[in-house]
Amino acid sequence: MAGHSPHSPPQAPIVASYIESLSPYLPGKPIEEVAREYGVPDCVKLASNENPLGASPLALAAIRDSLSRVHLYPDGSCFVLKQKLAERHRVSPQEVVVGAGTNEILTLLVRTFLAEGEEALLSENTFLVYRLAVQSCGRTAVAVPMRDHRYDLEAMAAAIGPRTKLIIIANPDNPNGSYVTKGELERFLTRVPQRVVVVLDEAYFEFAHGVAADYPDGCELRRGRPRLVVLRTFSKIHGLAGLRVGYGIAEPEVANYLDRVRDPFNVSSLAQVAAVAALDDQAHVEATKAVTAQGRDVLTRELPRFGFQVVPSVTNFVLALTGRPGDELFQGLLHHGVIVRPMRAYGMPEAVRISVGTPAENERLLRALEVVIGETPLRAAAGKS
Ligand SMILES: Cc1ncc(COP(=O)(O)O)c(C=O)c1O
Repeated sequence: MAGHSPHSPPQAPIVASYIESLSPYLPGKPIEEVAREYGVPDCVKLASNENPLGASPLALAAIRDSLSRVHLYPDGSCFVLKQKLAERHRVSPQEVVVGAGTNEILTLLVRTFLAEGEEALLSENTFLVYRLAVQSCGRTAVAVPMRDHRYDLEAMAAAIGPRTKLIIIANPDNPNGSYVTKGELERFLTRVPQRVVVVLDEAYFEFAHGVAADYPDGCELRRGRPRLVVLRTFSKIHGLAGLRVGYGIAEPEVANYLDRVRDPFNVSSLAQVAAVAALDDQAHVEATKAVTAQGRDVLTRELPRFGFQVVPSVTNFVLALTGRPGDELFQGLLHHGVIVRPMRAYGMPEAVRISVGTPAENERLLRALEVVIGETPLRAAAGKS
């Protein structure tokens, strides 16, 4: 074919087939984009489960204090943050792993523990990043269907095979907002062979803890179960999503392997100082929990007015089963400057996920829905996803 060098055949793939088949992760639509495209200057983003109160004020002050040192590389070992997290969780610093968001730690876990021929066991309709992390490393993900928008741990235990090496469980789950109970998880763990690394992704732990009595604390479940890794993040309750910082608690051997694989300066200096300060900002944590609980109650109570079925949530978002194409509802709401998350990519084309906002933001969503739903009468019976 004209234009091709005789030395490189035109069809020669430049990437492996597992890269070729990847679809990029589609994040929540940014506010600036909606403002530009739809001419709505004051958009409300309820699409990425961010903190509606903003960042921890103590973290912001710490960042300001550190700005003059950004020409220096960060502490590659995250010494101070690890010490603080170790104290908080009553573990040794050798059991703490810090990453550029829990996202990075998820990818590190896959790169470190899934060798060729080994498989990751996941749930369907859960956080898409898990599958992406596995596939981008050329590994295989086996996904087990959910049951009533909850992880089906019985079915997952039955699906464990000789190739299973890594199991990832979001508790609570995103995007469903549901959780698995302490009893369910304990029973499940007794059925997992010791060679398997189990990851409990607790990105929304702080919202669920103490709200649902049978919601387990993964850090407590680690006792007697060496290969259980617990992930938490500063992106949600602490409001530091833009800085990218999360952590894992794991046995020293597991943490040490992850440490060998990570990049030398994976967590920025501003992220480190902000995270340390945020851990002391109990007032911000409590205010965030309060605004979230109140807003979640409002959305759970009000959304059924529009014919939606709301999956019970212990998180800072709700999954609404709308009985209509979620993409269309998403588009309709954009015209009113309200950004929600359509769930087609999660295998739920008639669902949207809505993050809990401030009282004013929640109200704005409900007002916009009144107009949009009025414009587009229900096409099908509500209650399906
Ligand atoms: C279940 C779950 N895990 C992990 C993350 C990623 O968090 P981070 O910002 O720490 O990478 C998210 C973010 O939405 C999430 O929903």
